[in-house]
Formats: sequence, C-alpha cells, structure tokens
Amino acid sequence: MKVSINGKAVELGSSPDTPLLWALRDELGLTGTKFGCGAALCGACTVLKNGLPVRSCVTPISTLAPDDSITTVEGNADKVALAVKQAWHELDVVQCGYCQSGQLLAATALLSANPHPSDQDIDLAMSGNLCRCGTYPRIRAAIHAAAKLL
Ligand code: FES
Ligand code: FES
Repeated sequence: MKVSINGKAVELGSSPDTPLLWALRDELGLTGTKFGCGAALCGACTVLKNGLPVRSCVTPISTLAPDDSITTVEGNADKVALAVKQAWHELDVVQCGYCQSGQLLAATALLSANPHPSDQDIDLAMSGNLCRCGTYPRIRAAIHAAAKLL
C-alpha cells in the first residue's frame, strides 16, 4: 500500500484492513496520533488527508490511494500550522494534551479553508474533537489568534 505521509512516499506493509491509526503508530512510529474511542466519535486520531480532517481509527489503509497525502501532527508544518502552533503556545491551550494533536490538525484544516472564521465557524469545525480537560474556550481563542498571524 503506497501513500504519501508527511511529504514522504511510504510503502505500508500492514494488512489492508488495518486502520491508518495503527499503521501510523505501530508501523511508522508516528505516535503523535492518538487512540481515543476507535469509533470516529472523539477526534483524538484526527489526521489530514489531502488537507481535510479524517478519523484515522476508522480509515482502513486499503481506502488510501497512492496520490493521497496524509499529514500527521509530526508533519503539520505549513504556514497555517505554524501559526496555529504559535497561538497554541502563546495561549497555553494544552492541559493533559491527549486530544491536542487532533485539535491542532482540525484547527489547521479550518484555517486553511477559512482564514477568518467566526465563533460559529470554529464551533462547527471543531465539534468532532472532544477534550476531556475542557480546553474549548482556549482552543477557540487560539484559533482567532492564529487567524491574526496569517
Ligand atoms: S479514536 Fe478515532 S475518533 Fe476517537
Ligand atoms: S487537553 Fe486533555 S483531553 Fe484535551
């Protein structure tokens, strides 16, 4: 199974029904992508596929095409991603951190599509990414702060 992950062409050897989450973590050692629910409910496993957020826990690698580009938190480093990371740092968003790689990728996807989102846009785009620590107000503030950096 060939795919581009964080800008590098990769041949995945896991069986075709393996969820992308486990190929990333177990085969490639990219452990920034987290397992939460395993059922597309929490967003902890969010990665970007061709710039759009997907739940890697329910994405079998057999559904990926060779020209698909997957971005994990380890490779999330374009201009928007750097603004998001800077804002996250400045607003001290993170609490336990478990959900945050998914939050960062969802925020990057949102700002890439909509550089000046409203509160409502943010709430809608981020609604699938749950945070047990309740960092939602800081996430929303950091997305506005990142938008100002773009
Ligand atoms: S682990 Fe994938 S959505 Fe929860
Ligand atoms: S920061 Fe702890 S679950 Fe979100």
